[in-house]
Amino acid sequence: MKKDTRIVHAGRHPEQHFGAVNPPVYHVSTVTYPTVGAMRDGEKRPYDGLRYGRYGTPTSFALEEAVCALEGGYRSISTASGLAAITGTLTALLKAGDHVLMVDSVYYPTRRFCNEQLKRFGVETTYYDPLVGAGITDLLRPETRVVFVEAPGSLTFEMQDIPAIADAAHAGGALVVMDNTWATPLFFQPFTKGVDVSIQAATKFIVGHSDAMLGTITCASEALWKDIKASVAQSGVCAGAEEVYLGLRGLRTLGVRLRQHQTNGLVLANWLKARPEVSRVLHPALPDDPGHTIWRRDFTGACGLFGVELIPCPDAAVDAFLDGLEHFALGYSWGGFESLIIPTSGTISRTAKPWQPTGPTLRIHTGLEDPEDLVADLDAGFTRLAKAQL
Ligand SMILES: Cc1ncc(COP(=O)(O)O)c(C=O)c1O
Repeated sequence: MKKDTRIVHAGRHPEQHFGAVNPPVYHVSTVTYPTVGAMRDGEKRPYDGLRYGRYGTPTSFALEEAVCALEGGYRSISTASGLAAITGTLTALLKAGDHVLMVDSVYYPTRRFCNEQLKRFGVETTYYDPLVGAGITDLLRPETRVVFVEAPGSLTFEMQDIPAIADAAHAGGALVVMDNTWATPLFFQPFTKGVDVSIQAATKFIVGHSDAMLGTITCASEALWKDIKASVAQSGVCAGAEEVYLGLRGLRTLGVRLRQHQTNGLVLANWLKARPEVSRVLHPALPDDPGHTIWRRDFTGACGLFGVELIPCPDAAVDAFLDGLEHFALGYSWGGFESLIIPTSGTISRTAKPWQPTGPTLRIHTGLEDPEDLVADLDAGFTRLAKAQL
């Protein structure tokens, strides 16, 4: 079955819901049992089937089935946010004395969780250069349990050679966990590239409408699913019923939205690249991007999220550029239908290798507006940027 067909059908069982196209929203805490025997039977499969609202409902099972059908793994777990999917996975797989190899370009709250929370529990984190490739072998220790990858990197958009990293990690006895939010399973198939656990901040493209927090964890094997499901369930945090529904609803249009985000994003990236105010556009789908070869080899598309490095100019000029924008809202997220922009200068943390842009940096999430309007908006922004320097 092709991906677009799978997006439409995965996880839907109208025959179980009086023919309704979408699964209903099950609002559940208590589940009642017809007999004490049935109650005891449930104990034998603590995290399977409907037992108690926190452990999953028919609505969350539907989302998990659909996401898993797209990611291609054994089974998925839904969580209260993308960050909860990341922290739930790491706490499930790690114990005191273990070591994590974390990509240096990781989403900042993941870094903070390692530095502040995992550290308190005796787990050591080493940051590695996203371009390390098979060289990750030299950083593996006997106690390295997880190699975490995210491609392209948050804010800096470096690509990673995930198959090479996965081969080395597996040879050294470590698991590969990936934040696959940028590409979604549509543009990157994690389990064909050696990933063991794939995470989606479903808040972004799966929900797609900037109105719900949601995460998913998809596992390559039953053993991984059991461990991570138990840990997530025991932590007491679960995805809300309405959020899960919004995730399912958003998922059905993921293909068309993502392709339009890609098209619009490339219009902006190419236009920005030709501007005299811009020194670099950080977008792996551009042929001259340093990560382009890997992106072309391993990915089948790009979303509309990318970075821009400006020619050096005063902060006040960047503020003038940003403040007057009509179609780009200032907002710390992405993946919704609307365009967003944030200044990223001074917000990028690095440990393994410094990140040294020569001028101010921005991150753009290209929405579904007409790209001509978006270009005109940025063009007017550059006029303000120039005026602010007179
Ligand atoms: C790459 C990436 N991963 C994970 C997250 C966390 O997702 P959430 O906001 O749903 O916790 C984000 C949020 O911005 C993100 O950009």
